[in-house]
Amino acid sequence: MASYSAVVSTIGACFTYGPTAETLQKRQLNAPAPRRRGVSVVVRAEGGINPEIRKNEDKVVDSVVVSELSKPLTAYCRCWRSGAFPLCDGSHAKHNKATGDNVGPLLVKK
Ligand code: FES
Repeated sequence: MASYSAVVSTIGACFTYGPTAETLQKRQLNAPAPRRRGVSVVVRAEGGINPEIRKNEDKVVDSVVVSELSKPLTAYCRCWRSGAFPLCDGSHAKHNKATGDNVGPLLVKK
């Protein structure tokens, strides 16, 4: 009578281990697209991000000619909470503290 290991060896010789070439090809066809590097984040602010600035306009757009800036460094608001919009008045600090956000101004240097 054959030992246990011999039986296993004999049976093992009868099986193909791993997927067949056909199975591998099917898996590749059904595989999800490879992940791209980096992270993509979609953020949706309920009711928009602009709480009250120039709501009568279709789109709030401001242009700045850098050479005409009066100061060597000017801070522009990106949090939409400034009382001096489009300039930063520091209101982002209160917004960040209240919400846990991390927004800050755009600094334009002359
Ligand atoms: S007040 Fe909005 S970024 Fe400073």
